[in-house]
Amino acid sequence: MMKKGEKWVFIGLGIFAVVVMAVKGFMISQDDEVDPGIPFYTTVSPEFAKKASVLYRKYNCRDCHSLWGIRSIMQAVPAPSLDGMGEFRDEAWLYDYLSAKNPQSIIPSRLKRKYQMPSFAEIPEADRRMLAEYFSSLKIEDWYLEEATKTRYEKLTGKEYVK
Ligand code: HEC
Repeated sequence: MMKKGEKWVFIGLGIFAVVVMAVKGFMISQDDEVDPGIPFYTTVSPEFAKKASVLYRKYNCRDCHSLWGIRSIMQAVPAPSLDGMGEFRDEAWLYDYLSAKNPQSIIPSRLKRKYQMPSFAEIPEADRRMLAEYFSSLKIEDWYLEEATKTRYEKLTGKEYVK
């Protein structure tokens, strides 16, 4: 059996917890800052996005890159995220980059050879076209553009971004 004093300690703690939760709930309901949501979106149809995602997986892009905020748990490569890539590169550029025999002649790499962007020049042209179209369709909401620009710069150069 509990001693009388102990019982009151428990009741006291119970009341305290309820009050804390009530105050927290009140503060949250007062918070008029609207959650801005996810800053990334695509301008292609869900069907097209689905087909492109199959290629993304097939060619192991996700071994090094992240997309829709998702990163491979095995990944240790500091490659830039592909989210919102269409804000930085257009379709023609992406097609040329994926078709390059030596992608490092387009973007010099700061990484070890095994982590660098591989050449996809040998994959079917239709696949390169689809990947280029898809990645150029990935956009970023204005409120997050600066943050994404900074992160990408730091990933690509290994240097701190100064505005
Ligand atoms: C072995 C790791 C690796 C794989 C696999 C890989 N990439 Fe990359 N990618 C990189 C790295 C690292 C960079 C940055 C340039 C560099 O260091 O070579 C990069 C750069 C890029 C860029 C330019 C990014 C920018 O910010 O301008 C695009 C676009 C891209 N990759 C798309 C892809 C696609 C699409 C695939 C799959 C078809 C893919 N990558 C597969 C490592 C990889």
